[in-house]
Amino acid sequence: MLARTLSYTTIGLEALPVEVEVDAGRGLPALAIVGLPDQAVKEAKERVRTALLNSQFELPSVRFTVNLAPADVRKAGGVFDLAIALGMLAASRQLDPHALASVAALGELALDGSVRPVPGVLLMARAARRRKVPLLVPCANSAEAALVEGAVILPVASLRQALEHLSGERPLAAAAPPRRRAPRPGGAEDADFADVRGQAHAKRALEVAAAGGHHALLIGPPGSGKTMLAQRFPGIQAELTREEALEVTMIHSVAGLLDGQPPVARRPFRSPHHTSSAIALIGGGSEPKPGEISLAHHGVLFLDELPEFHRDVLESLRQPLEEGAVRIARARRSVSFPARFTLLAAMNPCPCGFLTDPSGRCRCPSTAVARYLGKLSGPLLDRVDLHVDVPAVPFDALTHPPSGETSAQIRTRVLKAQRWRKKRGQKPTNAQLTSKELKAHCALTPEAVGLLKSAMRELTLSMRSYTKLLKISRTIADLAASDHILPEHIAEAIQYRSLDRQLWM
Ligand SMILES: Nc1ncnc2c1ncn2[C@@H]1O[C@H](COP(=O)(O)OP(=O)(O)OP(=O)(O)O)[C@@H](O)[C@H]1O
Ligand SMILES: [Mg+2]
Ligand SMILES: [Zn+2]
Repeated sequence: MLARTLSYTTIGLEALPVEVEVDAGRGLPALAIVGLPDQAVKEAKERVRTALLNSQFELPSVRFTVNLAPADVRKAGGVFDLAIALGMLAASRQLDPHALASVAALGELALDGSVRPVPGVLLMARAARRRKVPLLVPCANSAEAALVEGAVILPVASLRQALEHLSGERPLAAAAPPRRRAPRPGGAEDADFADVRGQAHAKRALEVAAAGGHHALLIGPPGSGKTMLAQRFPGIQAELTREEALEVTMIHSVAGLLDGQPPVARRPFRSPHHTSSAIALIGGGSEPKPGEISLAHHGVLFLDELPEFHRDVLESLRQPLEEGAVRIARARRSVSFPARFTLLAAMNPCPCGFLTDPSGRCRCPSTAVARYLGKLSGPLLDRVDLHVDVPAVPFDALTHPPSGETSAQIRTRVLKAQRWRKKRGQKPTNAQLTSKELKAHCALTPEAVGLLKSAMRELTLSMRSYTKLLKISRTIADLAASDHILPEHIAEAIQYRSLDRQLWM
């Protein structure tokens, strides 16, 4: 007796249908799985067999052959367990094969027969909707699956429940689409810029970064608030649009980070440790999974202690920073994950951290400082527009009650600047302007040209710094709702290029 049902697998951000065929035939009692299964799928045998027995089903003494088609796609994880178990029930006439043929099933089985969550359900639900088949999903994944409008989502807690639904004994209720969550500002809920005392310069720099989409490097002594500032950055960015939220949720779904969690409604903030590998950062593995840069898509990637990261790890960021996506090449096929994020990085100015501190307590020899700064990857630094000095906050300022602006107040200005840019007729963010577009969108007053020229001469800035100065100035002009770039905008922009000015050396 042959039974068929449908399940899904993911490759990158794509879901592929997998046909699960189960044959119960003569031969020694056994369970064989074919169709390029990985180790976890091979182990499905033990899980499925035990789950069937523990759910009080019969396991007849026949030879079960399970075929997962198409055969040329690698099958990974426990997602096929439920479909295999139901297929075995149908093949052994404990369930009507016709009932099984008209649904798709996802889920890993626990030994007691309960259904565990699996990654990628949001993508699979979209694929099931295209085929117009109802989809059995683990209860813990039902919220993400129900995001797909028009999909019929049947949350199941156990193998027994799935069978009772398919036999018509106790039909399941389809999951209701979740109430749309209003998009909310990103970052942690209770982290607000108002908590950060002093640091007006750094806060302004981050406002510029948010308005123009610029990457920023925060430089300052230990404990000056660099981490604190970075964590609050998503809260001054525009809220995620519905489409952006869906993209972020899909990536987090494939990474298996959504289990039971509601869909992502805030901009992500990811801060991988400096010992992270290139694979952890940019993604990969034999079944390519998104890395930190993709989990940070539409949000912030924060690299704390930047010089401590392995150089080759930082170099691997180059292509994704350029393209807003990462391609992971595999022998069979290459996959691509989106990775458009704001890079925030933090570092001390020298090994001890106190080089720029007025206390003069730094005793680092200049060679050690040079070696420390030399660890920074040039190509990565080239992508960073803003260099932000974050000095130690004087004790007085720390003991006074906070009086700064709230994140909401700053965000209002950021949004206004972005509206101004769009009104000027410019689609890409200022940070993304190409050199040709730069000319079209950066009208300077003659005085501004003069100031830019003398700055280039006196600070011996490179052509690259020139371009960056223009982009930052454009953003500052947008914040001031000015069509033209004025000298004051250039003057402020120069402050955000401290590594060019080599203030410390
Ligand atoms: N400007 C500030 N306003 C309020 N609290 C601050 C400020 N700066 C530092 N702090 C306090 O000091 C702690 C350490 O700050 P934070 O971790 O942001 O410093 P850091 O610059 O990242 O230091 P490190 O270089 O050691 O990583 C914070 O948790 C916060 O309580
Ligand atoms: Mg820190
Ligand atoms: Zn030092």
